[in-house]
Amino acid sequence: MRHLIDTTDISVEEVDKIISTALDIIADRKKYSEVCRGKKLATLFYEPSTRTRLSFTSAMMELGGSVLGFSDAASSSVSKGETVADTVRVIGCFADIIAMRHSKEGAPLVASQYSEVPIINAGDGSHAHPTQTLTDLLTIRREKGRLNNLTIGFCGDLKFGRTVHSLIKALSRYEGINVVLIAPEELRLPSYIRREVCDKNHVPTREVATMEEVMPELDILYMTRVQKERFLDEEEFERLKDSFILNPERLRNAKKDMIILHPLPRVNEITREVDNDPRAAYFRQVENGKFVRMALIYTLLEWAKERPTSQTPRIADDLVRGEMRCGNRQCISNCEDVDRLFRPTETGDYRCAYCESKVKQ
Ligand code: NCD
Repeated sequence: MRHLIDTTDISVEEVDKIISTALDIIADRKKYSEVCRGKKLATLFYEPSTRTRLSFTSAMMELGGSVLGFSDAASSSVSKGETVADTVRVIGCFADIIAMRHSKEGAPLVASQYSEVPIINAGDGSHAHPTQTLTDLLTIRREKGRLNNLTIGFCGDLKFGRTVHSLIKALSRYEGINVVLIAPEELRLPSYIRREVCDKNHVPTREVATMEEVMPELDILYMTRVQKERFLDEEEFERLKDSFILNPERLRNAKKDMIILHPLPRVNEITREVDNDPRAAYFRQVENGKFVRMALIYTLLEWAKERPTSQTPRIADDLVRGEMRCGNRQCISNCEDVDRLFRPTETGDYRCAYCESKVKQ
């Protein structure tokens, strides 16, 4: 059984195939309008969402399938104390595929260890958001015509912004990618992504203090919201929330064919006037999200036919068991009784398999 928990669970060739399928869907919607007839998608959203949940729902409906699920943990048995492991075993009896969003990092990975049907991570805490990444990749492909030789500036909350983490991982597998990081000191990209993803894949990264100083070089400007809900200290959020605001003035020396992306929701980091600029691609990005999710659901269901659960190891073979504890309070391994799993790094350290935090030995 194949799942999509992290961007790198699927190879570059498989990502390209999903993008090609999405492009084929865009070209001929009718051809796909019955391919999931009789199939059910369960959307298990333990955390708020507008776009992602409705995009999954609309994607499955356009494929001829149906959708069940919940959009609020309080209305599910979670409020009675049910674990993720038990919930997915139950939902697997009702649905053919599951999309899960959870505030605890690694919850979808736990789900995949117990599920009889494919699990799609629809966002776990500050960790990852691989279907937003597929959305971003399809958008870049459609807007720029390529996924290589691009200079991309990531601006805003690079610490808690899971869409940034997943997109950097995905792009670092393509040739000629340059990453520019524009964030306040407190919201810098986690160092493991810089070292273990960018440096390892020879992706040049650099940090700058203002967007103006790099604007002329950028092919893509990826704006993000400061993730209020992840802050433990409200005062810190108040101090940082207006750090970077994109307005027409700041775009003055940008390339004519640069594109502006944003996973949305936007708060105030892009002013309304920018919406009229043809380079503002964020609403087109939303629509691409539906097409790419159609392609993903269809592909995962096809893969599930080819390789049933019984033939797949539940735990990836690069993980090891250990007695250590993950120090991240937002990690599912500190909330539920899960197998203690770790990934050894090249420097001899271990990372938690669920949230990728470094673990003290
Ligand atoms: C993002 C998310 O949930 O991480 N939204 C989305 O899925 N489109 C970005 C955000 O919430 O800021």
